[in-house]
Amino acid sequence: KLPGRAWIREVGPRDGLQNEPEPLGTEDKIAWIDRLSSTGLGYIETTSFVSPRWIPALADAMEVARGLRRRPGVVYAALVPNARGLERALEAGIDEVSVFLSASETHNRSNINKSIAETLPVVAEVSEAARSAGRTVRGYVSTAFGCPYEGKVKLDDVVRVTDFLLENGASEVSLGDTIGVAIPRQVEEALEKLLARYPADRLALHFHDTRGMALANIAGALRMGIARFDASTGGLGGCPYAPGASGNVATEDVVHMLSEMGIETGVSLPELIDAAGFVQSKLGKRLPSRGLQARGRR
Ligand code: HMG
Ligand code: MG
Repeated sequence: KLPGRAWIREVGPRDGLQNEPEPLGTEDKIAWIDRLSSTGLGYIETTSFVSPRWIPALADAMEVARGLRRRPGVVYAALVPNARGLERALEAGIDEVSVFLSASETHNRSNINKSIAETLPVVAEVSEAARSAGRTVRGYVSTAFGCPYEGKVKLDDVVRVTDFLLENGASEVSLGDTIGVAIPRQVEEALEKLLARYPADRLALHFHDTRGMALANIAGALRMGIARFDASTGGLGGCPYAPGASGNVATEDVVHMLSEMGIETGVSLPELIDAAGFVQSKLGKRLPSRGLQARGRR
């Protein structure tokens, strides 16, 4: 049975831009996010309070977060790797903090310079401090379906990290297909195991569309009751510390599929496509989104 309603976590301004060689200007980032917040999206991951040396494209996180025209009812989130990041995110008035780590050791180390065991207490501390400051916490498990360095990732390792996040303050965990290798059968296996432990509303899926499987994976997950999906306007995205990672599934493609399936998203597709067109024109290159390229056609 399909859910009647699905929730989109728009990650374009963070995941979509973190890997761009020519960073979008601060004013354009703000204008894009403000357009996104008027499409009906209820959730936008706006930036990252990570080290600007590691992710130069988001070095203007504070200016972006402070410059937004905050729309009531929209949750403005940001990625936070450590206590320093949390301090900055709180100062910027972020509503929800996204903590993150990987299911595979090598990606974790290359992305945040620590082993998984060293990362767990940092994540727990940030989550607790964020909650004491009245913020909600979301957790990411990267490389949940495959690692650019190690290849296959054990489902038990994914479950262990998911358990840790959900037991340490995260209200929702997003399983990241960092390099876009998952296929529907693999997603089903992971969900069978996780849905035996947690209700569907504590799980989300985050597909990079490297091999064109993202919508198939989402369609399969919907049939298992999952209703929370990360997506990026225009299909922008990628992780600089995951060689081969390409864009996230495009938000407009997900919204198109969901609405044609009769699943409510609350998002206006024409406005979303306009927002994708805006960022495409500012970046000055063709973006991977299908909906954007099909704009105006019947
Ligand atoms: P490190 O170099 O080990 O950290 O980096 P450090 O604590 O030794 O600090 C080094 C310097 O960075 C110091 O400055 C700190 O002050 C500064 P210095 O004294 O040398 O001038 N620093 C900071 N500055 C601002 N904000 C901070 C911060 N922390 C330290 N928060 C660190 C460790 C975690 C900071 C670094 O590895 C990092 O920032 N990594 C982030 C990498 C990243 O953002 N990757 C992409 C996001 S994850 C992703 O895309 C996957 C996802 O989409 C899901 C999926 O697809 O799977 C979520
Ligand atoms: Mg990602």
